[in-house]
Amino acid sequence: MTASTPPPIDPSLHQNPELFPDFFRHVGQVRAIRRLRPDPVPGEMIEQILEAGVQAPSGQNQQPWKFLVLQDKPSKRWFADHYGAAMENRFGLSRDPSKRSTKKIGRQLRAMFYQIDHLHEAPLILLVCGERDWPFKVPESERVGLAPPNYGAIYPCVQNILLACRALGLGAALTTMHQVFDEALSAHFSIPQEYGVVVAIPIGFPLGRLGPVTREPAKDHTFFNRWGAQE
Ligand SMILES: Cc1cc2nc3c(=O)[nH]c(=O)nc-3n(C[C@H](O)[C@H](O)[C@H](O)COP(=O)(O)O)c2cc1C
Repeated sequence: MTASTPPPIDPSLHQNPELFPDFFRHVGQVRAIRRLRPDPVPGEMIEQILEAGVQAPSGQNQQPWKFLVLQDKPSKRWFADHYGAAMENRFGLSRDPSKRSTKKIGRQLRAMFYQIDHLHEAPLILLVCGERDWPFKVPESERVGLAPPNYGAIYPCVQNILLACRALGLGAALTTMHQVFDEALSAHFSIPQEYGVVVAIPIGFPLGRLGPVTREPAKDHTFFNRWGAQE
């Protein structure tokens, strides 16, 4: 081996189990938790969650996120009413329990019904907002309406938030149905035009169990060198 040849890689020397104990087990334990206890979430935990969020990467490290934490009753009630109405219009999930289909419904749908009935009782609803910007190279002449919020930067931040909630034993569910009442939402909470709400995450201690996700293996979604080639 010459002086310029790096030594062969020993993967174990690159791993840091102290920093990431059991990461690969925990990453599959972050499912959407829609049934939450109304008990308050301590302020220090909210800070920890948001600090985890802002560790995310963003283009040129611009950190284009802002957080709006809905905690008071009128704010949560306003959001919950609009969210429920949007779910009803979009998916036919009636907010009136007496008008709901008596047909057997799946687990996720039952959880969604629970969420729309109890959203106003969640201890907090976190709105994660992104600064609006045109994607790279959209010419000014082709711009119509407002620029989209910077989704690419907000989603890594959101995933950190979901992981932090799980690490603290809190339940959380990523939701995007506010897009249906986006304008009213921004007007109601005085969100300036430069920002758009990307996700709304109700957060609280879970009523049921936190648990594993159900996903297809990555290999079923992966190709090598050419689309469709699995090896
Ligand atoms: C981009 C995106 C939008 C979502 N929007 C909603 C939503 O509006 N309401 C909701 O109840 N769940 C929403 N979810 C949560 C998904 O329904 C949930 O993650 C998925 O069904 C898998 O369930 P699990 O995470 O519990 O395994 C959203 C998830 C993503 C990634």
